[in-house]
Amino acid sequence: MTASRFTLDDRLPADYLTDALHTDVREGLRAAPRTLPPKWFYDKRGSDLFEQITRLPEYYPTRAEQEILGRRAAEIAALTRAATLVELGSGSSRKTRLLLDALTAGGTLRRYAPLDVSGAALSEAGEAICRDYPGLEVAATVADFEHDLALSDEPGPRLLAFLGSTIGNFDPDQRRAFYRTLSLALSSDDVLLLGADLVKDPETLVRAYDDAAGVTAEFNKNVLHVINRELGADFDPDAFDHVAVWNTEEERIEMRLRARRAQTVKIPDVDLSLDLAQGEDMRTEISCKFRRESLTAELKEGGFTVRHWWTDAAGRFALLMAVPS
Ligand code: SAH
Ligand code: TRP
Repeated sequence: MTASRFTLDDRLPADYLTDALHTDVREGLRAAPRTLPPKWFYDKRGSDLFEQITRLPEYYPTRAEQEILGRRAAEIAALTRAATLVELGSGSSRKTRLLLDALTAGGTLRRYAPLDVSGAALSEAGEAICRDYPGLEVAATVADFEHDLALSDEPGPRLLAFLGSTIGNFDPDQRRAFYRTLSLALSSDDVLLLGADLVKDPETLVRAYDDAAGVTAEFNKNVLHVINRELGADFDPDAFDHVAVWNTEEERIEMRLRARRAQTVKIPDVDLSLDLAQGEDMRTEISCKFRRESLTAELKEGGFTVRHWWTDAAGRFALLMAVPS
């Protein structure tokens, strides 16, 4: 039995956390409406809270995608014969095991290359996968997938998985840029596997982002803990309500933190004194929901042809396979 090998390559610039966080906070909190960018949710505590979200009764996307992967993994392995599975925003890599199982059974897989902004999530998931998949090379990369896809010398063909509807956390401009960069980075025998949550009744959607146990509220407020810790700010997380609203025009869920009372927050490291009115919102995350026709069209425009479109039995979530056109 060959031992598995685990490497973790940190490609974030040394001052990334401070520099990028400074800029994001300074620009986002001064904008109208005020925004905070989502990648800052995922410190160790944030990654653990997200993992709890995926197990909540209201949060159907993980189970729906898991259902599709369970049914289609063997077919995906046969269609791609991938030597490398690259995964963007891999988090706990839990669902990914269905792909790893099928690709290992198919005998083609040599390397698993997860990429995430959270080093903590990567080491935990990567080491567990090494233990469970003898002979597999696990080459993890800490990077920001908006700036660095870190695709280079992996053995092909490559299967690039982007699961969990993380694509929905991009706005249309970010998605356009992302498809373009990705389609140029992939070769003709590489394949994109994309998980996308679908438009459905607003009650189901809102509940998925505002659960009864309050885990999503804690997750949302975690960004305030991160800013307090990293920028010396004095946000009182209890002074905010977690709010999830369905935006009908944009067909997206918006996560917000709403000031329970008028307050002034000091953020010394970016020289900001923030006056918030009672009821004022800061938008922390969007989660766009998709329709088959428009998602296929935007992928086409970004350089991808959709080859397969699979949904769970209830039609809540889609997993699609696309190739560079
Ligand atoms: N794929 C997992 C996790 C989804 S949560 C699942 O389907 O359950 C989104 C993941 O993307 C988190 O692990 C987070 O750390 C990562 N992430 C978010 N923004 C990122 C960015 N800009 N660059 C790299 N990873 C990012
Ligand atoms: N990609 C996930 C989604 O859009 C991320 C997510 C789930 C999320 N729940 C959240 C992000 C709550 C912020 C807050 O479904």
